[in-house]
Amino acid sequence: MSNHGPSIYVRGTGSYAPEKILTNDDMSKFVETTDEWIVTRTGIRQRRIAAEGEVTSDMAVEAARKAMEMAKIGPDEVDALIIATLTPDMLFPSTACIVQHKLGLGPIPAFDVDAACSGFIYGLETARGILMANPKYKNVVLVGAEKLSSIIDWEDRATCVLFGDGAGAVVLSRDETAGGGELLGVQLGANGKNAPLIHMPGGGSQIPSTVDSVQARQHFLKMNGREVFKLAVRAMVKGANDILEECDVNLEDVGCVIPHQANIRIIESVASHLKLSLDLFPNNVQNYGNTSAASVPLALDEAIRSNRIADGEYVLMIAFGAGLTWGSTLMKWNSPK
Ligand code: ACO
Repeated sequence: MSNHGPSIYVRGTGSYAPEKILTNDDMSKFVETTDEWIVTRTGIRQRRIAAEGEVTSDMAVEAARKAMEMAKIGPDEVDALIIATLTPDMLFPSTACIVQHKLGLGPIPAFDVDAACSGFIYGLETARGILMANPKYKNVVLVGAEKLSSIIDWEDRATCVLFGDGAGAVVLSRDETAGGGELLGVQLGANGKNAPLIHMPGGGSQIPSTVDSVQARQHFLKMNGREVFKLAVRAMVKGANDILEECDVNLEDVGCVIPHQANIRIIESVASHLKLSLDLFPNNVQNYGNTSAASVPLALDEAIRSNRIADGEYVLMIAFGAGLTWGSTLMKWNSPK
C-alpha cells in the first residue's frame, strides 16, 4: 500500500532500559523539587539511569539484539545500521560504528542520525530510503539510544527531572514474506529558527571545550520548556494529520498512537486536539521520562510485546524534538512470521 515504491516492514522490535531506577523522591534529595510537582507537570514518576561505565552504544546493542531475535536474523543478515542519538559515545566516530563492532556485524554501512527526539522517525525515513533504493539492502537495523544522564545539568531542576536513559530498536526489511508492520509513509519537518529553544551550547565548533566552558555549564542541555511545550503540541497534531492524509487513512481507523514520551500533558493535549481517546495511547513516560530518540521505539516495543497492538491495526507514531524537528509515520501492524 506504500505510495512510493516497494513496501518496507518493521520485522522485529527490541528495547532496553538500565536497571537503576531514580524516583522523583530520590531526586527531591538533591534538587528543590517534589514528587507532586513532577507528576502533576509531567506525568513522570521515575526514570532509568545508566550504570557507571555503561554508554549509549551498550544500550543500543541490547535493544538491537532483541529486535534481531524477534526478526530471526543473525549478524550476517544486517545490511546497514543506523543509530539515532543526541548522546553519542563520543563526537566521532559515530556510535553506529562502535555498535557495529560490538554486535559483530559485517563491513556494512553504519552511521548516526541526529534529529534529537525525532531521531527515530528521521532514521525510519533514512532506512526506508536505503531499502527502497537498492535491493542489495534487505535488512536495516535502526536504534534510538540515549544516555541523557550524561548531558543533564543535575543542578537545574527545570530540566533534570524530565529525562532518562534507554534504547529501542527495530529491524526494517523489504522481505514481505517475513510479515511485520508495513510502513505506509513517513513525514518529516524542521524549523531551525527555533534551534535555541533546546540545545547544548558547548563541545562543538562554536564553543569548544575549555575550562571556562565547563565552568559556565555550557556542556549541559538547556531548554525553554514553556515555548517547547506549545510548539510540540502544534507540530505533533500537524504531523498526525499530514501522515494520515498522505496515506489516505482516517483518524477514526487508527488503533494505537505512540507519541514521543516527553510529558503526559503534551500527550493529553495532542489527544484532545485530535479528538482521540487517551486509551489509544499506550504511554510509558511515567516509568522512563523523556528518553529522546529512544522514546518512540521503546514504547513501540513495549506495546508490541504486551500485545497492545492487534494484527491489522493502524499504528500512528509522532515525535518532535530539538531543532526543532518533527516527524510522523503510519504503520499497519502484522505480527512477524
Ligand atoms: N520542581 C519544582 N518546581 C519547578 C521545577 C521542579 N522540578 N521545575 C521548574 N519549577 C518551577 C519553576 O522554577 C517556576 O517557578 P516560578 O514560577 O517561581 O518561576 C514554576 O515551577 C513553573 O515553571 P514552568 O517552566 O513555567 O513550568 P511548566 O508548567 O511550563 O512546566 C515543563 C515545565 C514540565 C518543562 C514543561 O514546560 C514542558 O514539559 N515543556 C516541554 C519540554 C519538552 O517536552 N521537551 C522535549 C524536547 S527535549 C529534546 O528534544 C531533547
